[in-house]
Amino acid sequence: MSDHHAVKMTAMNYDKNRPKAENPLKIMDLSLRDGHQSLFATRGRTEDMIPVAGLMDEVGFWAVEVWGGATFDTMHRFLNEDPWERIRTLKRYFKKTPLSMLLRGQNLVGYRNYADDVARAFVERAAENGMDVFRTFDALNDFRNFETVVEVIKKCDKHFQGTICYSMTEPRLGGEVYNVEYFVTKAKELESMGADTICIKDMAGLVAPYDIFNVVKALKESVKPPIHFHSHFTSGLAPMSHLKAVEAGVDILDTCLSPYAYRTSHPAVEPMVMSLLGTNRDTGFDINKLVEITDILEEKVMPKYRQFLNEPTMSVIDINVLLHQTPGGMLSNLFGQLKEMDALDRLNEVYKELPRVRKDLGQIPLVTPTSQIVGVQTVNNVLFDKDGERYNRITDQVKDLCYGLYGKTSVPIDSELQKKALAGYPRGETPFTGRPAEILEPELEESKKEIGDLAVDEDDLILYALYPVTGKKFLKWKYGQEEPPASVRAKSLEQAKAELALVAKAKAGKVVEKTDKHEIPEKSDSFRTFHVFVDSEYFEVGVDESGDSPVISYIQQAAARLGSAPAQPMAAAPAAPAAQATAAPAAPAPAPEAKTEISVPAAAAAPTDGTPLTAPMPGMIVKYLKKVGDTVAEGETVVVLEAMKMENALPAPVAGKIASINFDSGDSVPKDAVLCVIS
Ligand code: CO
Repeated sequence: MSDHHAVKMTAMNYDKNRPKAENPLKIMDLSLRDGHQSLFATRGRTEDMIPVAGLMDEVGFWAVEVWGGATFDTMHRFLNEDPWERIRTLKRYFKKTPLSMLLRGQNLVGYRNYADDVARAFVERAAENGMDVFRTFDALNDFRNFETVVEVIKKCDKHFQGTICYSMTEPRLGGEVYNVEYFVTKAKELESMGADTICIKDMAGLVAPYDIFNVVKALKESVKPPIHFHSHFTSGLAPMSHLKAVEAGVDILDTCLSPYAYRTSHPAVEPMVMSLLGTNRDTGFDINKLVEITDILEEKVMPKYRQFLNEPTMSVIDINVLLHQTPGGMLSNLFGQLKEMDALDRLNEVYKELPRVRKDLGQIPLVTPTSQIVGVQTVNNVLFDKDGERYNRITDQVKDLCYGLYGKTSVPIDSELQKKALAGYPRGETPFTGRPAEILEPELEESKKEIGDLAVDEDDLILYALYPVTGKKFLKWKYGQEEPPASVRAKSLEQAKAELALVAKAKAGKVVEKTDKHEIPEKSDSFRTFHVFVDSEYFEVGVDESGDSPVISYIQQAAARLGSAPAQPMAAAPAAPAAQATAAPAAPAPAPEAKTEISVPAAAAAPTDGTPLTAPMPGMIVKYLKKVGDTVAEGETVVVLEAMKMENALPAPVAGKIASINFDSGDSVPKDAVLCVIS
């Protein structure tokens, strides 16, 4: 083996005019997608990207990842932003730097396989709107799920980055399933599909430095496309893995600007630029330009996002990730779900059950959506299995996985579980082994019929096809048919700073003053409630904008973050409407991933005679399959509840007639809400 890939010092001057390196390391910046998705619950707004976009375009990044992953969902659901508009806006600022997106193969930017017609239309529109690089992955590394989208990416003359999800079954690389040969075989498959580049995607930050060295070295020796490495900082390994990947000859690395880096995000770009300065792999970046950008971010943007920073511990690394091999997002979902079911004390059982469930399900990699599938099933097993009988409540997604709707698992699914899951499965009890989307009926025509004129163009239609419930809600906001709730409005820098100052005051033990005892202002139309997270505490803050500066009407501690005892209000709330003042302590603090308003109509609490069907967990009603007066058999699905990004079909607890239905499609419900009554 020659030292072709060795890193050597070449230059003696380190200024920005230093000579170009022989083989510069290329960098993709992730700040505007995976960065804020990892650190700030994907809540980054387009308006906060604009102040730095033009400057970022000057750095020399290979590409900037700005779209895909969870952004599409979060934008239309929580930010009242049209996802398509973000591409067009950023394209005006990134004139030279290609835009990149994370595409979940046939899952596109959702959590299930969509039909081929939706997949084709989505990629065409993404390309047309300005997307250049399509980082395409499949949660099972089953590349048959790439076939449809890749054909369109190629047809649109765009960059197809074939991605292999990094996974392990042992403490380090190796073992029966995920070994060096596995990655080489997968890379060769991608090369033969026409991949322009090949990415190793380590979504949980599990790669150890010497393992990635071996993987990159093997890939460089066996395939032609440039190799790109994506890792998360979560466990603390990533900066070392990055450097070892460089030594093994990796072509492209993923980093974030420092305010978006570390914790569950990615290594920062600045230390890598400095490490390679004056070597044959010098990035050529001007470090001063990077500082200029981070200064703007720190001053004008980050204060608005501090509240989303999930910092339950002092440590910026999470050792649990190495012990349990669970991606950070999955862990916080598990916490959230257990907490809202008052079962946080069973976390250790969940940790123990998780690898068993994963093994039963064919040792699949843990990445969206498989991380949610394994996570929710694990929690179900811990909470609902009894008397040694396992898998008492199998989710629909696990049934779909057992049928073959997601693709081929890394090793076969446990045959007993598969049989149990497929008993009475609507598509049949014999698993399907073809390309999953083959058996999906086209969806766009049907979507068009359902949404009608509310979808003005194809982008609207695709949005609706991907997210029927929240997509429809968004389109109503977009076209003025419904007033968007205050919770989706953007926050100004002044508001953010006022909140931070106030919370600091409250934490210092100073009771919050009321604006004026004698003249408490009327709550205006711009009155809004904010959830502010500080360390382990959660505050609800009422803010009203009057004239130039926002007035804080009240603040109260709503709940300790990971503790279960509801906290006492810190100050009386004279200006707050009674409903808000009392609702906050009663409702559980929302999990970081699911900050939706939870409303409980009075009717829900007062069931008529009969057997109630209650929500087993907090979530959003997707649809009722029955209406008042319909007869149902015991076990028949009555309502579909979306929780933890999963659709859960809830069965009738008894046979009978639907006596009342208490919610509508799109409503958020707390745990134990009475969804309907059967008499
Ligand atoms: Co990532």
